[in-house]
This record gives sequence, C-alpha cells and structure tokens, in this order.
Amino acid sequence: MPLEPVAPELHHPVPSWRPLVTVNAAVSLDGRIAGRGGRTLRLSDREDLGRVHRMRAVHDAILVGIGTVLADDPALVIKHEYHAEGGRDPMRVVLDSHHRTPLTARVASGTPPTLIYSVGAEDRIERLRKMHGVEVVACPRDASGRVDLKAALGDLKARGIESLMVEGGSRVLASFFRAGFVDRVTLFVAPVLVGEGAPPLVAVDAEDSGTPLAGFTLVHATGRPSGAVVHLLPDKAPR
Ligand SMILES: NC(=O)c1ccc[n+]([C@@H]2O[C@H](COP(=O)([O-])OP(=O)(O)OC[C@H]3O[C@@H](n4cnc5c(N)ncnc54)[C@H](OP(=O)(O)O)[C@@H]3O)[C@@H](O)[C@H]2O)c1
Repeated sequence: MPLEPVAPELHHPVPSWRPLVTVNAAVSLDGRIAGRGGRTLRLSDREDLGRVHRMRAVHDAILVGIGTVLADDPALVIKHEYHAEGGRDPMRVVLDSHHRTPLTARVASGTPPTLIYSVGAEDRIERLRKMHGVEVVACPRDASGRVDLKAALGDLKARGIESLMVEGGSRVLASFFRAGFVDRVTLFVAPVLVGEGAPPLVAVDAEDSGTPLAGFTLVHATGRPSGAVVHLLPDKAPR
C-alpha cells in the first residue's frame, strides 16, 4: 500500500506562501481523539503506528499544540526502522502562545531541532530559550490571542519547510480547518466508542455557527478488523 495513495493531480494547488499541510489523526467511531478528560488513548493499531512514522519521515516538519505536549508528552521522532531512505528527521514544531512547554518535555529534548511558536513578552519567551536545541519564535497574535497560524506557516515556508504534518490536538486542528489551511487529511478510524467528555477531532468553539467547517471527498480507504485508514481531500480550494 503506497503511503499517500492520492494522486497529486487530484489535490488543489498548494498556495505558494505556505507549506503543504497534511492532517493526520486517529479517531474513534464517535470522533474522539483521546480518552475521557483528554487522557492518552491509543487508537491506532500497530500497523497504523508504522504508517504514521513512515508518513512523518516524508514530511519536512511535524506540528502539535501545547495541549498535546502537556497531555501526551510526545517525542515526535521517527522510529529507526521507519526512517526514509537517506533518513532525516522532520523538524518538530509546537504552538505554545503562553510559554507552557515544560523544560523536561520530550519534544524539547534531543534531536531533531524544535521550533516553538509563541506570542508575548520577550522576557517570558526567554525561559523557553534556555532549552537546548529549541528555537523560540515570537509570533503575532490571532484574534483570540494565540499564535497567528498564517504568520507561523509563512515563517515555516521561509525556513524551507515545504510539507507539514499536523498531528493535533482538537484545538489546533480546529484552527487549521477554520482557516482553510488543510490540503489533505488522513484518519485512522478505530472501531471503538469513547463517549462524552473526550476531545473530538475538531474542538467546538464559541464562534461556531452550526454550519459545517468544511466538506471533504473521500478519495481512498482501506480497512481491517482493527480499523480503517481513510484519505480525504477538501472540496474547497485551501487558502
Ligand atoms: N488521536 C490523535 O491522533 C491525537 C493526536 C494528537 C493529540 N491528541 C489528543 O488531543 C488532546 C489535546 O488537544 P487540545 O485541543 O487540548 O490541545 P492542542 O490542540 O494540542 O493544543 C491546543 C493549544 O495550542 C495552543 N495554540 C497556540 N496557537 C494556537 C492556534 N492558532 N490555534 C489553536 N491552538 C493554538 C493553545 O494554547 P495556548 O493559548 O496556551 O498557546 C491551545 O489551547 C490530547 O488529549 C491528545 O491526546 C490525539
């Protein structure tokens, strides 16, 4: 099974000011991406974890929100056996407006380098700058006071990042979908029901009007007893 079974000619063109953005997540049947109260819940099966690592290996950078760092403490590295030919680790990127990344976070230690997009006072950002191998970039704020996605994506592109894999969580995915900055989506759908009180794929926001954020076309799907991998493309051209 090819990693990206969607022919590039099916994609809308990627706007030149930003990298290609691929969303990847594992969801339950009821659309949850973690356990109740945001507890870590492994939804992917073993085969899917391999797919995620191989997918990371063909992207220039992987991005998560600070909520995911605090909940799961992911390292965002690629297991040795999944390294792409000629192996290089994608850059790790965290959206952390309020400088909450713990100094001991796995994403902020070891290699490859990590970029933290933050907003606000230089003196507060200084705390994060103490971390070895971490670069902290002060970004403009968006309307809700968080990292302005357009500025962060433009900065990534200027650094030579052509492809970005966005892994979550709910709030970060909501921002990407709302802004229309998603070029393709891959989901592993696990045949379990998690129930209320667990984060959904896309966080619901007070600004939401009840109309769908975006429509997608399912372009490829494969299934097995432990779940299905689905590939989707947005119906509307991304921004
Ligand atoms: N199943 C999966 O595939 C998967 C993958 C990843 C995560 N998860 C789960 O997702 C959950 C975490 O989701 P979450 O919603 O709490 O956290 P999140 O989306 O990882 O991070 C959200 C935080 O990022 C910061 N942020 C900065 N700029 C932002 C922007 N422009 N838009 C949105 N957020 C921005 C905000 O905090 P500040 O305002 O402090 O900056 C925001 O609260 C965890 O339970 C984790 O297990 C599941």
